[in-house]
Amino acid sequence: MKPKLQVALDNTSITDALISVKQYADAIDVIEVGTILHVAEGVQPVRILRALYPEKIILADIKGADAGSILAKQCYDAGATWMTAICSADVETMVGMKKVASTYGPDRDVQIELYGDWTFEQAKAWKSAGLEQVVYHRSRDAEAAGKSWSDDDVDKIAQLIDMGFKVTITGGLKIEDLTLFKEYPVYCVIAGRSIRDAKDPLKAAQSFQDEIQRLWGS
Ligand code: 5RP
Ligand code: MG
Repeated sequence: MKPKLQVALDNTSITDALISVKQYADAIDVIEVGTILHVAEGVQPVRILRALYPEKIILADIKGADAGSILAKQCYDAGATWMTAICSADVETMVGMKKVASTYGPDRDVQIELYGDWTFEQAKAWKSAGLEQVVYHRSRDAEAAGKSWSDDDVDKIAQLIDMGFKVTITGGLKIEDLTLFKEYPVYCVIAGRSIRDAKDPLKAAQSFQDEIQRLWGS
């Protein structure tokens, strides 16, 4: 199956996010309420986007670190399909989120955001605990400091896929980066600035979809 296209709304207000997503919502598979937007507006953007786009997968990228079940209840009550936990959280926090997710429906899920230092030992523990999705991240700040995608990133992504995870990739992704991952069944491709800040965001989203189809379509 080809990767889904997810767009991260890392806007600083719901007004800006809604103006942005309206332009390309039909061309994408997953709408992400970015961490930046959550800090600005809480879970309200999830509620509004769910009302406007009832059929879409909506991800709440809260990068939760503790109090998993309480955070999960707020995200899923607002209408999130998926939410995120940070990789440094205790596995119990992630399991707490996942348990709450299952009470809202079989499509609800938790993504673990891989940042900084994490190990394959931890990844084994996540898998054993029933977590299924990870997001392989190049952080915005690492990118700004000049870190580009490397063979090491691709190797780690391959290992995570071999372990059975649904692996999503993100972090300043540009269309030309996608070819690096074409050998692997990536679950979602997340783009934020490459689509939101494009001169023509709809065209940018369509170009991402065309490239996904070219690289992964059968
Ligand atoms: C940063 C994030 C972003 O939402 C993600 O990296 C996508 O945005 P961009 O393509 O602009 O990097 O979670 O922590
Ligand atoms: Mg994000």
